[in-house]
Amino acid sequence: MSITAPFIINDEALNVLFRDAHTTSAFEDTSIDPEVIKSVRDLIKWGPTSMNSQPLRIIEVPKDKRSRLVPHMMGSNQAKTEKAPLAFIMAADTNFHNNLPQQFPAGGNGPRDMYENNEEARTAVALQSANLQAAYFILGLRAVGLGVGPMGGFDADAVTKEFLRDGEQAIMVIIAGVPADTDSHHAQGPRMGDADVFRVAD
Ligand SMILES: Cc1cc2nc3c(=O)[nH]c(=O)nc-3n(C[C@H](O)[C@H](O)[C@H](O)COP(=O)(O)O)c2cc1C
Repeated sequence: MSITAPFIINDEALNVLFRDAHTTSAFEDTSIDPEVIKSVRDLIKWGPTSMNSQPLRIIEVPKDKRSRLVPHMMGSNQAKTEKAPLAFIMAADTNFHNNLPQQFPAGGNGPRDMYENNEEARTAVALQSANLQAAYFILGLRAVGLGVGPMGGFDADAVTKEFLRDGEQAIMVIIAGVPADTDSHHAQGPRMGDADVFRVAD
């Protein structure tokens, strides 16, 4: 294969995923077909995770249960979480190791047994890979044309207690929907220059 341009997916796709997409706070009052979100989940599961551990759990909080989530959001995150067509809790499953014999067969039972006795290590791995998967989910939602608002400003312990199962920890709340046609959106934030964020090792 000869490389004629740096990117192998087209400019339109790159704009949707990165250049034109940015954090959305206001949405049209339009419901989203659950099959669309299922398609996103079916796509983003292919993103890489440590030992194929796949620790992200996605918990949708429908509108009729939103009142249990909103009080745990901070400040201005409350109103948009209440109004958004879609709200999801991103959670890291620290018991992912029980799935490793199936999901990472190359390791046999070794990785599961190693993590069984090391909660600290498996929590670190769960958080790292679940955060990566949350990023894949953000990009997947953008890929179906939705506006997305990721949020870390919430009481994670309270959300964990209210919604999650044993071993799961809340790491992010994501709201999504069709972006409202309004000028209330924040302008896209500036980005640091390449010289500030990249270097070749000294
Ligand atoms: C992990 C994470 C946590 C965030 N937490 C919040 C939040 O609590 N409230 C909020 O309004 N925006 C939150 N944001 C949105 C960021 O502020 C936003 O993505 C960033 O400023 C870039 O914005 P832009 O892409 O629109 O330029 C969060 C984003 C990420 C990825």
